[in-house]
Amino acid sequence: MQGNGDFNMNETHNHVVVRVPGTTANLGSGFDVLGIALKLYNRVRIERAPGKAIRITSPLAEEARPGATAMVAEAAALFFRRARQRGFGFDISITGDVPVARGLGSSTTVLVGTLAGLDALTGAGLGKEGVFQLANELEGHPDNAAPATFGGFTASAPAAEGARVARFAVPTKARFVVLVPGFEVRTADARRLLPAEYAKADVVHALGRVAMVTAAFASRNLGSLQGMYDDRVHQPCRTPLIPALPRVIANGVKAGAVGGWLSGSGSTIVCLVATDDDGRAARVGKAMQRALPASWLHVVGADAAGYRVEASR
Ligand code: HSE
Repeated sequence: MQGNGDFNMNETHNHVVVRVPGTTANLGSGFDVLGIALKLYNRVRIERAPGKAIRITSPLAEEARPGATAMVAEAAALFFRRARQRGFGFDISITGDVPVARGLGSSTTVLVGTLAGLDALTGAGLGKEGVFQLANELEGHPDNAAPATFGGFTASAPAAEGARVARFAVPTKARFVVLVPGFEVRTADARRLLPAEYAKADVVHALGRVAMVTAAFASRNLGSLQGMYDDRVHQPCRTPLIPALPRVIANGVKAGAVGGWLSGSGSTIVCLVATDDDGRAARVGKAMQRALPASWLHVVGADAAGYRVEASR
């Protein structure tokens, strides 16, 4: 086993383990644009296997992640093509704490882990920028792939090279109170609920909030965000899937959170506590859970590193 620091990208390897953080995306009105990496992790282990087959060997296999094998195969095919590598079969296992279909970037951990793992295994040298661009191409929106790759807070926008990312470190004192409901929401279903067009007033409302949230993270002044997480872009249309959403956020804010949002396309709801006051974070969590008792709570900080190749041989 080698630590990340000793990892030599130019060698080929037989197996590799990549740790990838879960993510919370949108942060209110930053739909498909803003994201934060969280200290909640999945580990993707890839081992070369004879033949061309790709096999998921972890307990979180096809039953728990419908379509996972096809998703990994698609990512691998894109990697082999773009990195100009000869394809090979492999066994892949996915373990960790990021729940499936809850809006915490679980699919992204699998995609990024697959791409980063193959990059490390082959010594192709795409690096984080190359891995991110391929993940964005596969997902169609970069708001989970950017923080999962680079860590911290990220804003991203379509650009000539695919997507461009601005990344800022999140103050270590920030606490994210993560309420994970017992039920799943599929991103594709949640995207179908969105309108094709928006009124000018709603666009202007969203632009202001995205600017303010980005400025607050860039200037490390998270306390200035009261009232800036309300949203007219996606949350109102998705509330029928998560009816407790407005009450969970209102309870969290009343208990001392700066604000709260639907994490990605849900079902998870996140409230931000801007100080390292763990008592306040616990009170916020309890208040959120009162509005949705059938749920799990995590209080976590932001991950600063993005994905990390942990071991290889
Ligand atoms: N931004 C996406 C959505 C989910 O809200 O549908 C995360 O990529």
